Amino acid sequence: MSEATEVRVYEPSAELVRNAAVSGMDAYKALCAEAERDYEGYWARLAREHVTWQTPFTRTLNEDNRPFFKWFEDGKLNVSYNCLDRNIQAGLGDKTAIIFEADDGTVTRVTYSELLVRVSRLANALRAKGVKKGDRVVIYLPMSIEGIVAMQACARIGATHSVVFGGFSAQSLRDRISDAGAVMLITSDEQCRGGKNIPLKPIVDEAFGMGGCESCKTVIVYKRTGGACNMVEGRDVWLHDVLQGQADTCEPEWVEAEHPLFLLYTSGSTGKPKGVQHSSGGYLLHAILTMKWTFDIKPTDVFWCTADIGWVTGHTYITYGPLACGSTEIVFEGVPTYPDAGRFWKMIQDHKVSVFYTAPTAIRSLIKAADANEAVHPKSYDLSSLRILGSVGEPINPAAWEWYYQNVGGSRCPIVDTFWQTETGGHMITPLPGATPMIPGSCTLPFPGIQAAIVDETGNDVPWGQGGILVVKKPWPSMIRTIYGDPDRFVKSYYPADFQGRYYLAGDGAIRDAKTGYFTITGRIDDVLNVSGHRMGTMEIESALVAHPLVAEAAVVGRPDDLTGEAICAFVVLKRSRPTGDEAKQIANELRNWVGKEIGPIAKPKDLRFGDNLPKTRSGKIMRRLLRSIAKGEQITQDTSTLENPAILDQLAQTL
Ligand code: PRX
Repeated sequence: MSEATEVRVYEPSAELVRNAAVSGMDAYKALCAEAERDYEGYWARLAREHVTWQTPFTRTLNEDNRPFFKWFEDGKLNVSYNCLDRNIQAGLGDKTAIIFEADDGTVTRVTYSELLVRVSRLANALRAKGVKKGDRVVIYLPMSIEGIVAMQACARIGATHSVVFGGFSAQSLRDRISDAGAVMLITSDEQCRGGKNIPLKPIVDEAFGMGGCESCKTVIVYKRTGGACNMVEGRDVWLHDVLQGQADTCEPEWVEAEHPLFLLYTSGSTGKPKGVQHSSGGYLLHAILTMKWTFDIKPTDVFWCTADIGWVTGHTYITYGPLACGSTEIVFEGVPTYPDAGRFWKMIQDHKVSVFYTAPTAIRSLIKAADANEAVHPKSYDLSSLRILGSVGEPINPAAWEWYYQNVGGSRCPIVDTFWQTETGGHMITPLPGATPMIPGSCTLPFPGIQAAIVDETGNDVPWGQGGILVVKKPWPSMIRTIYGDPDRFVKSYYPADFQGRYYLAGDGAIRDAKTGYFTITGRIDDVLNVSGHRMGTMEIESALVAHPLVAEAAVVGRPDDLTGEAICAFVVLKRSRPTGDEAKQIANELRNWVGKEIGPIAKPKDLRFGDNLPKTRSGKIMRRLLRSIAKGEQITQDTSTLENPAILDQLAQTL
């Protein structure tokens, strides 16, 4: 049977069901029914049980100014207090909070008490530098304890952080600093990945050199490697210097539940990346709940999420969720393939990781490596500590799911295939490990309380078995609050007029299984690409390409890729004649590097082709559907009679 038609159901083991936080499907259904009966009462109960409030809330949901929903609005809390102080008060002060493994294998452990001291000292230092509640602080740091401390320190004083992934270019960093009007930047001299030291601070200097970062008066630099580092007088200060003499305690800033905890820039289908704004109270609640229900986190667990703090997964499942639950977690600086492709398995073995959360792309690349070399195959390691596996960021194909299940999980660990987005703050559709029977390739059922549905263009429900548009019918606590500085774009992007503004539009297509009602995500329905779980807008890449002096026009589409899920394919028209042979290869390389510099290496087109023109209708519209077929190497069977220039198709079909 083909991969697509074979359906195997994997039931959770009796032991898991017995001990899980959500024990069995009846417990799952009871939670869903509670939310159905009394939606606000359900979330209010959970928010009271799982979050520590300094001032209790009396109003659960305010829909007066929809879609700008407010949750728990008159409640006050501090997220860092919830992650640190309350665990210490509960007796976890000496428990290891973070096991940090550096690229070179050096391991550093930090207890909850030590972490609170580090966060407090930095929080005091930020205050001393004038950072106040509501100020934006950009964090451009590698995976490090310092990165988590920086985020928590912002949360402690009510500053809103905006983490920029360390792989983003100077241009991307500049745009984010400028859009957020950040008052401070926290960075490091270099980062270590795969045995190499990669300079980071020079990128910061380049970003400042572009102009637009004038709001940012202070740059704090963490000395990671001691490599050469230019310090600008009056602006740049070393982290170890600003920490000097700071007190070990720091009174948290009690903020309203709606206070923006962070901005995180992500790609949309049009224009520049948008600053997704999250709240404090509702966001924290969902981070905690999903740790407890999706990962069934227990006090004895060692949790490892392999994401980077530059992405939302790293926010919710490294910086906030695990710490708010008093867990011990792994933080990893390096890459899965260094010193060899057995690194993940060795780390799981060494640290006795019990809950492991990674991305399908990583799994697929490690399958390839394990097939080629037995020494890096998971079976060469003792992975018996594992009890739950997770997947995130892109669809996991059934073959990768099976391999992960059998070889990593020893056919005993459930896989939670968690569907969610930067905008949703935490898991939306996912199995619960002690309840939901799993079907490879399906993210199964909505998290209890999340009103996910599939509708047609007019907003009407489509029957199970029929594909449609994924929406969420009711607001939920951890949802995006706005796009920073652009509320209109928020409304247009997520509460479009097509559905009379009733539903949150996820931007993905989905289908529910005709029998089980299980959800399968069929991919983005807009011009957003997902390459190795990294989200990118086709327009962003096109803008980067046309900014090159040689380029007249460019169109970017995605095509399926066995390893990265989707790959970027760019069709380019130059201002000069169409290049061929070696010259074409050389210009293509130059353009790839250019995109790498404009956005970041993850945005470099894998496939780049030149044409005298692009396939356009007589009215001048680029026919992307044709470009997608060409990128896939398909025969063109579509009607091309409306094309201005059909001859162009053969030209574009030629790879370099
Ligand atoms: O297309 C969906 C895909 O990733 C998109 C969200 O990307 P981002 O905001 O970067 O967040 C990624 C980490 C939460 C979604 O619109 N996606 C995410 N998880 C899954 C997925 N597609 C299928 N299955 C998933 N489990």
